[in-house]
Amino acid sequence: MAEITLPEVELNIYGPKNPVEVPVVENYIITKESSPNFVRHITFDVSGTELEGRIKVGQSIGILPPGKDERGRPHKLRLYSVSSPNSGENGKPNLVSTTVKRTIEEFEDKLYIGVASNYLADLKPGEKVKITGPSGKRFLLPEKAKEFNYLFFATGTGIAPFRGMIMELFAKGDYQNECSLIFGCPYRTDLLYSDYLEKMAQEHSNFHYIKSISRENRRKDGSKHYVQTKIEDEEELLLPILKKDNTLIYICGLKGMEAGIYKELLRLGLGGYLDIRKNLPEDLNEIPRNDIKKFMKPSARTFEEVY
Ligand code: A2P
Repeated sequence: MAEITLPEVELNIYGPKNPVEVPVVENYIITKESSPNFVRHITFDVSGTELEGRIKVGQSIGILPPGKDERGRPHKLRLYSVSSPNSGENGKPNLVSTTVKRTIEEFEDKLYIGVASNYLADLKPGEKVKITGPSGKRFLLPEKAKEFNYLFFATGTGIAPFRGMIMELFAKGDYQNECSLIFGCPYRTDLLYSDYLEKMAQEHSNFHYIKSISRENRRKDGSKHYVQTKIEDEEELLLPILKKDNTLIYICGLKGMEAGIYKELLRLGLGGYLDIRKNLPEDLNEIPRNDIKKFMKPSARTFEEVY
């Protein structure tokens, strides 16, 4: 198997004490009109800063929202995954994109509006934002990225890095291995970047776009369609790929999603994606989702960013 070596990356060229101010160049909604969720694609112009050409897909940038919290302290930094490829949005190394969902939650009759996400979502082209970064050195495509097959599992805005990674792999037309994106969201109206992904799937027989819509219908056994259930439901396509020793798994999105994927991999005898640390119970469902890390960790072939 090709060796899995992660590239050296730049870290924290700008930190919270010395952020850099960059303008927004585009900010558009990517969820369908009828969706109650608002997810936006936002691009910043980092021209003339040390960030130009130095951010890799899989890394994050930090956003410093203006203003203070309820205790009178400046708002803390929030990290957002980069969704543009290494070459930059539209191939321009000065353009860096991210994917932002407005967080609006009701809890005990009170409405909570996410500070950073709503600040970002309201920005107009030309307005400036204080950013930091890049951060993250593990959730990256390996060197010689095109020698590997990939299974990308995403829920919601966890798709951000995969958009850029798919662009990266397919940009030059010389990627010969298999790449599958398994994307989970509640309703079809919450599909993200689906026009681009459908087009990619049409144009490239080695790109597979698998949607897992959790709240529209159920699987035969009554369970929900989750990204991990697609491993079984799309077994004919995915199992032969998973069995190849040059296949890597990337997981990004909701905390907890990794547990379902790990259990499914074990059920199929695909332990090579995991480092088992403890004797496993016969019935894997006995492992509570929050305890999964006590039993297993991702191996060198599995990359995970859950939040
Ligand atoms: P559901 O909420 O129907 O249970 P979004 O971020 O857009 O809300 O999408 C997250 C998606 O991930 C939803 O389809 C959600 O399903 C699904 N999901 C929730 N919990 C898990 C889990 N433990 N494993 C995999 N997918 C999950």
